[in-house]
Amino acid sequence: MTQSPGQGQALDNLLTESRTFPPSDEFAAQANAQPELYEEAKADREAFWAKQAERLHWDTKWTQVLDWSDAPFAKWFVGGKLNVAYNCVDRHVESGHGDQVAIHWEGEPGDSRAITYGELQREVSKAANALTSLGIGAEDRVAIYMPMIPEAIFAMLACARVGAMHSVVFGGFSAEALRTRIEDSSCKLVITTDGQYRRGNPAPLKPAVDEAVAGAPSVEKVIVVKRTDTEVAWTDKDVWWHELVDSQSDQHTPEAFDAEHPLFILYTSGTTGKPKGILHTSGGYLTQASYTHHNVFDLKPDTDVYWCTADIGWVTGHSYIVYGPLSNRVTQVVYEGTPNTPNEGRHWDIVQKYGVSIYYTAPTLIRTFMKWGADIPAKYDLSSLRVLGSVGEPINPEAWIWYRENIGGGKAPIVDTWWQTETGAIMISPLPGVVSTKPGSAQRPLPGIGAKVVNDEGVEVPHGGGGYLVLDEPWPSMLRGIWGDEERYRDTYWSRFADQGFYFAGDGAKYDDDGDIWLLGRVDDVMNVSGHRISTTEVESALVSHPTVAEAAVVGASDATTGQGIVAFVILRGGAGSDAGGADAIKALRDHVAKEIGPIAKPRQIMVVPELPKTRSGKIMRRLLRDVAENRAVGDVTTLADSSVMDLISAGLQSGK
Ligand code: WTA
Repeated sequence: MTQSPGQGQALDNLLTESRTFPPSDEFAAQANAQPELYEEAKADREAFWAKQAERLHWDTKWTQVLDWSDAPFAKWFVGGKLNVAYNCVDRHVESGHGDQVAIHWEGEPGDSRAITYGELQREVSKAANALTSLGIGAEDRVAIYMPMIPEAIFAMLACARVGAMHSVVFGGFSAEALRTRIEDSSCKLVITTDGQYRRGNPAPLKPAVDEAVAGAPSVEKVIVVKRTDTEVAWTDKDVWWHELVDSQSDQHTPEAFDAEHPLFILYTSGTTGKPKGILHTSGGYLTQASYTHHNVFDLKPDTDVYWCTADIGWVTGHSYIVYGPLSNRVTQVVYEGTPNTPNEGRHWDIVQKYGVSIYYTAPTLIRTFMKWGADIPAKYDLSSLRVLGSVGEPINPEAWIWYRENIGGGKAPIVDTWWQTETGAIMISPLPGVVSTKPGSAQRPLPGIGAKVVNDEGVEVPHGGGGYLVLDEPWPSMLRGIWGDEERYRDTYWSRFADQGFYFAGDGAKYDDDGDIWLLGRVDDVMNVSGHRISTTEVESALVSHPTVAEAAVVGASDATTGQGIVAFVILRGGAGSDAGGADAIKALRDHVAKEIGPIAKPRQIMVVPELPKTRSGKIMRRLLRDVAENRAVGDVTTLADSSVMDLISAGLQSGK
């Protein structure tokens, strides 16, 4: 098992900031979460979760809170029935909030649209009728490959409404990445757009779908939303959204589905080249998404304006743009574009324009804002902000303090939320108004959640000690498996601490002297680049699929802005030609990775080397390559099959070869 470079970084941070920030009396008094929540959950965990499930509308009440008899496959709220979309939309209209704005949508070019709950209900109903007209029903898989436009949210909710499973694929992924995901879960339908706005310009999107669908015979239809008015090629599977959906009735009666009815699949990188289709179901997922959103962000539906800056292509967009917030009758901002279009003040302009009060983003973006300078947010009125959130990677205390001072006016509590695609919803986070926050630490498991730091033997470490993060109790929004691969599910998460029955998260962690948890980065071969999980193997496979590359090894090296940056070491093929290591050839390799996986997986740096460091059993020692990538003295080489390899690599790099 390799040690993540995040560990050293986080420990440095630990030494530089020791202040804590208690909630103000004023905030504490009005907070949704009160200290008793911890006691209540501890007294009777299942009763606690049953109470949280009452936040939702159930057509049929459950008979059993948790069935863990078939562990690690959980069943929550057994026998209960509900419709997830009804819970996110219709019930708010029925309770008299049809005129409340659900979504303040802000397009990148400056167009905008306010969508009330009444309108959302009509749009989702029309889309649901459209799905039915195409023969899409319960448990069919629908791929959604779209930018951040309202139709993406309508499409997700329409799937939920008819019991179909969506598989949202990030719009920045390549045609090949889309194809493999469509194929893995045999999607019948793809919903996409003609193009998307990116950094001020329209970029085509549909050509990637055409390419993917040509190699994915399961796809029967493609619905295309017109967003950029770009000319597109047309096939007989294609149908325009505005022709199909707009002509449908805006009345639709939702059907109640079992609490364990599948809701969605979301692919995430694992330690092998093949992404894992993480499966989530309905009742437990929505319960925890709703409960955490209410308590961690302190949402007041009548007065708050919430904004989560994630993309729906990631789990944060699923749980904290769509399901959690809408189930809580949020008024939220959804922004289509990049943070520096038309200028670096775009986010603060949006905060000011809509009076955003809760803002949830990723450390990589906070560090980018830092780089752009505090004078940019200082030009805007950010006084509406009262809660700030962070997710995706450890936040270094320096960025935390900058966020608090320059965005939160020195007073808004910051919630550093740890969770994963697999956990479905937030697991570890301070509760604002209850917990004194601590820069850099996600602190403690939420009420109802069991998390621990353990050593190699699965024994909890003492305060001050470090090890692995595990989850020692099943939780409502836990994944229900990996699509089509039961064995991989057991192996990946449940075999490491099988004796104890712990879920292995793949993250290193430590307790500080107060017993607060600090996340220290991945302990497996998964990189975290700008909060996105990318496996080293996936990038390596992309590189070796290029004709000039014989062998490749990829590491995540620490990066001041993106957390980790991808650094690749490649051995070229004998016949690759003398120019194969030149700047043009390196650029071609980087572009090749972008084409195979997507631009987010482009290596920051590619180094051509004569050999790779391997153990006697042939395993690449990434630890040593990471030393090179991070410009450190190379560590212990005694387990290498050939200990001179590192000298060869270093010598070659120094001479610029
Ligand atoms: C990392 C994103 C430290 C972690 C919701 C985890 C974090 C992986 C934090 C999941 C945090 C997420 N502090 N690390 N607050 N939040 N991570 O599936 O390594 O895209 O295992 O889910 O991101 O990434 P995923």
